[in-house]
Amino acid sequence: MLTDLQQQPADALLALIKLHNTDPRADKIDLGVGVYRTGQGETPVFGAIKAAEKKLVETQASKAYLGPEGDMGFVEALMPYIFGKASPDMGDRIEGMQTPGGTGSLRLALAMVKKAGYKRLFVGKPSWPNHNQICADIGLDVVEFNHAAPDGTADMDGLRGALAEGGEHDAILLHGCCHNPTGIDYSNAEWDEIAKLIAGAKVLPVIDLAYQGLGMGMEEDAYGLRRVLVAVPEALVCYSCDKNFGLYRDRVGALYAMVADPADLPRVMSNAHALARANWSQPPDHGGAAVRLVLEDEALTAQWLDELDQMRERMRQVRARLAAAGETGGVDLSPIGGQNGLFSIIPFTPEQVQEMRAKHGIYFAGSGRINIAGLTMGNIDKFIAAVADVTA
Ligand code: LMR
Repeated sequence: MLTDLQQQPADALLALIKLHNTDPRADKIDLGVGVYRTGQGETPVFGAIKAAEKKLVETQASKAYLGPEGDMGFVEALMPYIFGKASPDMGDRIEGMQTPGGTGSLRLALAMVKKAGYKRLFVGKPSWPNHNQICADIGLDVVEFNHAAPDGTADMDGLRGALAEGGEHDAILLHGCCHNPTGIDYSNAEWDEIAKLIAGAKVLPVIDLAYQGLGMGMEEDAYGLRRVLVAVPEALVCYSCDKNFGLYRDRVGALYAMVADPADLPRVMSNAHALARANWSQPPDHGGAAVRLVLEDEALTAQWLDELDQMRERMRQVRARLAAAGETGGVDLSPIGGQNGLFSIIPFTPEQVQEMRAKHGIYFAGSGRINIAGLTMGNIDKFIAAVADVTA
């Protein structure tokens, strides 16, 4: 009976949206769910996307079904940005499909990992909570390794230990850039080592690239993924356009599989298509079509990249301002300056997280993860003072 179902907790990240909305204080601050905000605290539609949407409305002749793979023009237009223009030899070993957001892509990738018979998935800790939720739902065995060292850089020993233990029946999930929730990315030299270790261990890499362009730049943020892909025979890449095209609720993502022999691609992808059919049948079209129109038009592409540069620049300024605060109360904010993307973690205790909400009206995840983009030059001093207050 339906009434036999057990109560499920609301998703802790998504619940923050409501918690913040119902706080009546005018100077409340939302550092919760990962959406970019301007210096005025807004999340506008990208100008390039607005223009593409207008074009789409005027030119789209049909909304008939496209198939489980979605808009292949969209999927292929993204490929040079992800895999690099200088990888023609790799091109025929890679095929993709459109998915509803990065979550849809992860869902398919991890279900394929399970279906292909991999025994375990190594996941750095902490990770985006939905990674573990998807694995639990699919029934994939997760083995955690430590991702973050106490000094705010990557714990390479944690990763080395995992890969020393892993073998050809294991897979590893890595954040391509802008690690969620820590903001702690691997350096290029570390990626060089990781690529070698993964190849040596024969572990299947699954790379989640959900924030390309929000860290150091579109090319820079793909460094690790490209290093790993040239070193291994097979890989899965989960891509999201939710952040770097600002399409959040339109759910725009893609899954790419790379295999050693191009002849195997149709069979591998037929599994992804079948899983998509059983989950959502076909991805929503609108956002992916708008991205395709941006990428097919030189002027719109330049406008989009410019908008992305401005986002990244603003987040760098916020990070620099936090880092400059240094020792604040009982915590050191300086590592935040060297971290990337939307998120960083401040080591608040659960009581301090509650006090930040109740006393100061500042909302962020229970893990201490803050959305850097929720801070503006208008509210950052209040935030730093509140941190000092609750951690002193
Ligand atoms: C986040 O981590 O806040 C974003 O990726 C949004 C989400 O779906 O959780």
